[in-house]
Amino acid sequence: MNKTIYFIANWKMNGNHNSIREIEKVFDFFKKNTINKFKKIIFCPPSNLLSSFSTKIKSKLIDFGTQDISKINLNYGPHTGQLSAKILKDSGANYVIIGHSEKRLIDEDFKTIKEKINIALKNKLKIIFCIGENLSQKKMGLALKVLKKQILSSLDTKRINAKNLIIAYEPIWSIGTGIVPSNNYLDKIFINLKKFLKEKYNVNSPILLYGGSVTADNVSILRNISLISGFLIGGASLKSKSFIKIIKNYFK
Ligand code: 13P
Repeated sequence: MNKTIYFIANWKMNGNHNSIREIEKVFDFFKKNTINKFKKIIFCPPSNLLSSFSTKIKSKLIDFGTQDISKINLNYGPHTGQLSAKILKDSGANYVIIGHSEKRLIDEDFKTIKEKINIALKNKLKIIFCIGENLSQKKMGLALKVLKKQILSSLDTKRINAKNLIIAYEPIWSIGTGIVPSNNYLDKIFINLKKFLKEKYNVNSPILLYGGSVTADNVSILRNISLISGFLIGGASLKSKSFIKIIKNYFK
């Protein structure tokens, strides 16, 4: 069976109005090339760019997401600095990244993450839920324990299904470092995650992504991990050339 492979660009705190060119180049590439059709491309630019980008790129080939959402369960109101699910949806977002380790460091604890996930789901935004262990947890052999705790403390059994949730495993020690786990390590993690999601959430075919220093070179190795349904890409997603090359190499 051909499964959909996700290539999600997390631009983090990068980009300006001219960066639309990078998305246009990706769009032009796919219009001209019939590269494997079982793929989903999602750009998550900073939220100030979301509306203009999603208005300019109207195509089934490319979707948009946001990197954050307010935990306040209201559409509008006197909440300085907050972007509600409604505002984000109106700006063109269909997905939202929640639980990224860079956000956990600043202001996302387990409770906040759970609140954000539930608000996003209520508003029909799909979740890109990030989990990952840090280096010392990895060295102590605690990776799976950490991941399971992150999942259990944030995902509500009644609301989650395979269609509204993407889980991105992003080991913190791999983000922006150029260090990518071995396929053996990743195989073990993904096999256990799949089993755990079946046991606890009755999700049979979860969408599981890998993120952390993904490049056009290492994607040719990472694609051999059968349980991976795609990638959450930071640095290499900022330029169309490297992003397109990742996708091309995956399907080579
Ligand atoms: P890099 O691809 O830059 O390592 O970032 C990964 C990431 O954090 C994506 O969310």
